[in-house]
Amino acid sequence: MKSIRNDFPALSQMVNNNQLIYFDNAATSLKPKSVIEGLKDYYSSFNSNVHRAGHYLSAKSTKAYESARANVADYINAKDSTEIIFTKGTTESINFLASILAEDILKDGDEIILTRMEHHSNIIPWVALKDKLDLTIKIIEIDEKGELLIDDLDKLFTEKTKVLSMAHSSNVLGILNPIEEIVNKAKSRGVLTIIDGAQAIVHEKIDVQKIDCDFYCFSGHKMYAPMGIGVLYGKKELLNQLSPYQKGGGMIKNVTYEEVIYNTPPYRFEAGTPNVGGAIGLSKAIDYINSIGIETIKKHEQSLLNHGNYKLKVIEGIKIYGRSAIKDPIISFNISGIHHSDLAIILDKFGIATRAGFHCAQPLFDHYNVKGNLRISFSFYNTIEEIDIFVEKLNLAINMLK
Ligand code: ALA
Repeated sequence: MKSIRNDFPALSQMVNNNQLIYFDNAATSLKPKSVIEGLKDYYSSFNSNVHRAGHYLSAKSTKAYESARANVADYINAKDSTEIIFTKGTTESINFLASILAEDILKDGDEIILTRMEHHSNIIPWVALKDKLDLTIKIIEIDEKGELLIDDLDKLFTEKTKVLSMAHSSNVLGILNPIEEIVNKAKSRGVLTIIDGAQAIVHEKIDVQKIDCDFYCFSGHKMYAPMGIGVLYGKKELLNQLSPYQKGGGMIKNVTYEEVIYNTPPYRFEAGTPNVGGAIGLSKAIDYINSIGIETIKKHEQSLLNHGNYKLKVIEGIKIYGRSAIKDPIISFNISGIHHSDLAIILDKFGIATRAGFHCAQPLFDHYNVKGNLRISFSFYNTIEEIDIFVEKLNLAINMLK
């Protein structure tokens, strides 16, 4: 653990005269030295544009960029690297899909299915299409534990259902949804499936062929990579049918003032200078995860989750949201009579980073009829001792605010 923690320089700092305890990993993870060095190396030595010039630096950049794509493809078990499109992150990947599906596939009156636990990035792009296309949005609701009411899904599908877009795991509840079962149901009805893997990609072994979804979206920055890089995985046969999202340099075969012939995927979908440094950083992050092993990471994170639940559940007046047995390491809660933001402010004074509020999932909080909660989210570099300190300081904060 000591050597793992040494890999993350940000962990060793003091915040408000206390040793930092970083429990806001669901918002973004800290970055290991190998990722920081990878970025530094790119910008300080071979920084150059890709797919455009024949000079030494450009060839080196192009090779690194394309091998990053191949590394991502291997990591999620895509059939081949042309199924990997680099984007800015999950938000851009879903916006990409909403806008292209609206152009190429969706028609007036179509229906799409989301779930109660979606992040705003998988709500707003669809709501924004509602008026344009007279779309109907249907919701898979949750039970008292926070688990999806999957049996209701059969009633939600109609002849008009075109897309099911949902989180693999919830950024508020931590609940890991049974997406293979859901994707299977959708596929049997010819419904396109989009999975928001922003949270799950960090904690789970993702195999897109096993899940068999049409699209899988994730961000680099939550999985130890730089901000501003992310991925849209799409099945090759579907990507081949889709129009470009943005238009510009690097995505064409031929251009005249009369006609444009677009390149094949993934290049057709990567207009303009891409985030080469980000892609290299993402590839370094994958190497880093592989060097530890996602199963080892998961085992430790699950022990943190269990310890956190065990210590928190005895606090008087606590309500923990998301009580499923199958969860990623996120615990969000409220303490009766105390505002979550007040707790977060006091915890910050003790050097503990948490997140308070709606966590960009307001419709979920409407369901619970509360105005937010306090969330702690763990990474494999966190420790049991940090959880004990957190609980001690939380109790102090509760006593101050009571
Ligand atoms: N989606 C990120 C979170 O849950 C920002 O905090």
